[in-house]
Amino acid sequence: MKRGLFITFEGIDGCGKSTQVAKANERLSAAGMECLVTREPGGTLIADKIRELVLTPGQEEMSSSCELLLYLASRAQHIHAKIGPALAAGKIILCDRFADATIAYQGFGRGVSLHILAELNGFATDGLAPDLTFIFDISVERAMQRLRALNKKADRLESEGEEFFKRIREGYLALAASNPSRIVLLQGEKSIEVLAEAVFQKINGRLAGR
Ligand code: TMP
Repeated sequence: MKRGLFITFEGIDGCGKSTQVAKANERLSAAGMECLVTREPGGTLIADKIRELVLTPGQEEMSSSCELLLYLASRAQHIHAKIGPALAAGKIILCDRFADATIAYQGFGRGVSLHILAELNGFATDGLAPDLTFIFDISVERAMQRLRALNKKADRLESEGEEFFKRIREGYLALAASNPSRIVLLQGEKSIEVLAEAVFQKINGRLAGR
């Protein structure tokens, strides 16, 4: 059986990527292509417990190393229990965040060494990388406005200040610049439908080219 297609969606909080995961799933399903939709941190029983632990605000202060290792633990389990088997079964996987988020958030955001991150990400993923990644780029001001408009309680990461998210945005732009064959950079301020069409066309192109 042909290996599946592993597609990830990335960007700062409030960039609109989760809406685009749902749109891509709708459009691919309507075209007769069943997808597995998942997210990080989380996606399995154990990984969802780690998500709760890493995102709940108001616990004791969490060190950057603890935060990093929790994201990586979630990823290792996610690959073991869900992504790996789905890829082997030939499925299309739409994953809301993956290893690029660790580079952007823990590397550029928290200042963890990119060299260490490359090693640890490689260990957690066993070398598995997405086939295609969409990064939705948006200004931090606009993303914050969108999050405020949702009127929900901010999680531990969303409670960080604008400077943190500016560094993360720079991280994502750097990742896009250094991985042009894997990463498609899209302007997150465009309309939902325009973005959904661009994502759908790109995925179709990849599927056709296999
Ligand atoms: P979400 O809001 O997109 O569900 O993601 C949860 C938060 O976790 C978000 O603020 C980004 C952050 N995150 C990291 O800091 N590092 C990671 O490796 C991942 C996957 C997410």
